[in-house]
Amino acid sequence: MKVDEIKTIGVCGAGTMGAGIVQQAAQSGYKVKVLDVQDAFLERGMNIITKSLDRLLSKEKITADARRAVLDRITMSTDPAVMAEADFIIEAILEEVSAKKALFESLEPVVGPDTIYATNTSSISVTQLAALTARPDRVVGMHFFNPVPVMKLVEIIPALQTTPDVVDVTIELTKKLGKTPVPCKDTPSFIVNRILIPMIIDAARVYESGVATAADIDTAMKLGANLPMGPLELADFVGIDIVYHIGNMLYEYTKEARFNPPDLVRNMVMAGYLGRKSGKGFYDYAEKH
Ligand code: CAA
Repeated sequence: MKVDEIKTIGVCGAGTMGAGIVQQAAQSGYKVKVLDVQDAFLERGMNIITKSLDRLLSKEKITADARRAVLDRITMSTDPAVMAEADFIIEAILEEVSAKKALFESLEPVVGPDTIYATNTSSISVTQLAALTARPDRVVGMHFFNPVPVMKLVEIIPALQTTPDVVDVTIELTKKLGKTPVPCKDTPSFIVNRILIPMIIDAARVYESGVATAADIDTAMKLGANLPMGPLELADFVGIDIVYHIGNMLYEYTKEARFNPPDLVRNMVMAGYLGRKSGKGFYDYAEKH
C-alpha cells in the first residue's frame, strides 16, 4: 500500500487520545470513521473535537467553513461495519489486552486484507498485540501524545512481525498528519514515557518527602528547566492512574527501584485522585478551574 492510497482512516476509541487523532486526521483532509462501544462515548468524543475546533475558530486559526468541513468528514458508529471503508485503522481504546484482542477480532470480518492496524498503546508490547491478530505483519505502534492537535511527536514502533512496507507507509502517513515520526524499538514505554514517567515519579517523591509544595516544585521545574508544565501538573494532565500503571510496568520489566511509584501515587489512585479527569490530583480542580 502507498500512502496516497489512504483516503479513509479508522479510529477505534473516542476517548481523549482517540478524539484528538480523529480531529488531526479530519483536519488533514482524511475521511474518518470512528468506532466505540457506546453512543455516550462517541458523543463525548465529538464534544472534545467540537470544543477544540471552536477554540481554533475563536482564535481565527480556522474559518467556520473549514470547521464544518472537518466535522462533515467524520462518521461515528458503534458498529464495527463502519470500518469497512477504512484503509488504515488506528486503535486507541482502553489499555487492556483482552479488549484490544476482542476489537481486532470484530474488525477482521469487515476490513480489507491490506488494511493496517496501528495501535496507540503506551504500555502494551506491540509484538504481543500483533500476535493476537490475524495479520501480525500489518500491525504497528503509532504512539501519539496529549493533546494530539498540539503535540508534534508520534513514536513509530514496528512489532517483531511488522514488514518494512507497513513501517514506511506509517511514517509517511504520520508526516501527512502534520506530525514528526520517530522510530523506536518495541520496548516498554518506548522513548518518551521511559524518560518522562520516572521524572514525574521523582517529582512525586520530592513532594512526598516535604521538600516543597506542589506549586513550588512545578514553578521550579517550569522556570528552571523550561518545561511547559511542571511535572506534578503534567501528572494530573496525563492521569495519576496512567503514571502509576506505566511506572509499575517499567518497574516489573527492569526491576529498577527508580521506576517504582511511591506510596503517595498508589494511594492517590486508590482514593480516586486521578488528576484533572477526576477533579482532584496534586491540585484541586474544583477550586483551581
Ligand atoms: N486542542 C487543540 N489545541 C490546543 C489544545 C487542544 N486540546 N490544548 C491546547 N491547544 C493549543 C492552544 O489553542 C494554543 O494554541 P496557540 O498557541 O496557537 O494559540 C496552544 O495549544 C497553547 O495552549 P494554551 O495557551 O491554552 O495553554 P498552554 O500554553 O499552557 O499549553 C499545553 C497547553 C499545550 C498542554 C502545554 O502546557 C504543554 O505542552 N504541556 C505538556 C504536554 C505534554 O507533555 N504532553 C505529553 C504527555 S505524555 C503522553 O501524552 C504520552 C502518554 O502515553 C502518557
